[in-house]
Amino acid sequence: MADRVFIFDTTLRDGEQSPGVSFNIQEKLEIARQLARLNVDIIEAGFPITSPGDFAAVQAIAREIRGPVIAGLCRANPVDIDRAWEALKEAEHPRIHIVIATSDLHIKHKLQKTRPEVLELAVAAVKQARGYTDNVEFSAEDASRSDLGYLCEVLEATIEAGATTVNVPDTVGYSIPQEFGEFIAQIRDRVRKIDQVILSVHCHNDLGLAVANSLAAVSSGAQQVECAVNGLGERAGNAALEEIAMGLYTRQSYFNKDTGIKYDEIYRTSKLVSSLSGMAVQANKAVVGKNAFSHASGIHQDGVLKERTTYEIMNPELIGLPQTNIVLGKLSGRHAFRERLAELGYILDGDRLNQAFERFKNLTDRKKEITDRDLEALVKNEIKAAPELFLLDYLHISSGTTVVPTATVGLKRNGSIQEEAACGDGPVDAALRAIDKITGFQDISLSEYTINAVTGGKDGKDALGEVSARVEYGGRPFIGRGLSTDIVEASVKAYLNAVNKVIYETGQAGEELEVAGKRRRGRPPGSGKKTVKK
Ligand code: KIV
Ligand code: ZN
Repeated sequence: MADRVFIFDTTLRDGEQSPGVSFNIQEKLEIARQLARLNVDIIEAGFPITSPGDFAAVQAIAREIRGPVIAGLCRANPVDIDRAWEALKEAEHPRIHIVIATSDLHIKHKLQKTRPEVLELAVAAVKQARGYTDNVEFSAEDASRSDLGYLCEVLEATIEAGATTVNVPDTVGYSIPQEFGEFIAQIRDRVRKIDQVILSVHCHNDLGLAVANSLAAVSSGAQQVECAVNGLGERAGNAALEEIAMGLYTRQSYFNKDTGIKYDEIYRTSKLVSSLSGMAVQANKAVVGKNAFSHASGIHQDGVLKERTTYEIMNPELIGLPQTNIVLGKLSGRHAFRERLAELGYILDGDRLNQAFERFKNLTDRKKEITDRDLEALVKNEIKAAPELFLLDYLHISSGTTVVPTATVGLKRNGSIQEEAACGDGPVDAALRAIDKITGFQDISLSEYTINAVTGGKDGKDALGEVSARVEYGGRPFIGRGLSTDIVEASVKAYLNAVNKVIYETGQAGEELEVAGKRRRGRPPGSGKKTVKK
């Protein structure tokens, strides 16, 4: 029987360290629920000491999620460990994850300590954590650039102190697969009692080798792989979960390893994380990219039509790629809608179902053919982080090659409608300026703006567009999403969604906002420069 490789997902911790990515608590919960459906073994929910928000998210996940182990990261010091435990203690299966660097470079320049001091801190931290739980992971940060003898000494001492998992990170993505495989083999040979704990790896992608290094480590006896959905993570990211899982599955004859992953949840998980993180998945990304199962050349198409496996080493159905194209339409009722969503893995009831159904009905007025991907997009839209304090009531645009683009926007707040008009360098620019006049926010800057065609409509005419707008406020990013067959409307919804998050998460929901005709700093690409006065 194949050995088990444990999948440790760090999308919510290392993944959130991706530049520009920030999940709020609702989004983290939604991702954690999906990770549980994906059946990962461990969810690293966050780094509780870093902020009250991170603490609250880890605590909420620990309280709700059943099945996977819930891990919280902490440095090797008593305050961090206490705080991590406070957040984790209600989990069904809590794990305290302790990290301290072991490379001389980090010890000298970052920690300004000596090797013996680090060893002592690591041991004390593991002992303290064991006072709380019998599930303790120890990570030797920058392990791959550490002196092997010293690293083995630290791992051995932390195992002796009670660590149940020891993790060997390639923190800066410096290793080469064969070298990293040999490194892991050396650790297996030299560390006493290593066979009594789980040996883990955590690889970064600075040289594009995170997955290759992780798989080389598995071949050398690593039993846990730390990875993140879509390869999110610090700098160039972590090993991509979907690539690790499908690599082990597709080449089972080579690795002879199993994971507990429910493969048919992979695609949905990737979509959810991409949508909530605002990080688009590149088209040629392995496993989950748009082109991963598309065949362009005639020879390839001919081969696939004759026998799929001529050019496909994975079955798209296996990863849960929606196959049905046209499913629901104008005449479909709530029951059919709910059933189809359930088939796609989205279980909605109560208010969430009602709201999604209302959006679905609105969409059927504009789009004849509702595909599975449209439905997915509608459901993702239901994952709201914040109450919609400002709601789009109406939008009128006047635009063309010979007129100054003008927008009139009506927003509903507390039951009453506020209206403003503005000109801009493009229709989106004009609409966002009108919104700014209503909300009165002056320090919001739009830092990123992307539009994706979620689905192609008939003749490409009624495609559903999804806009992701990232705004910065008070040094923090807030990501909003909007969906519509009309990209100006989708843009307005995305921007409003982000503004609503700003208001909600910065505790300004109760305050009356002055209407002052204030300006934002950024504008969506293509919507023009900031030359038109409001
Ligand atoms: O990259 C790293 O070393 C880490 C540790 C916390 C495991 O993220
Ligand atoms: Zn990392």
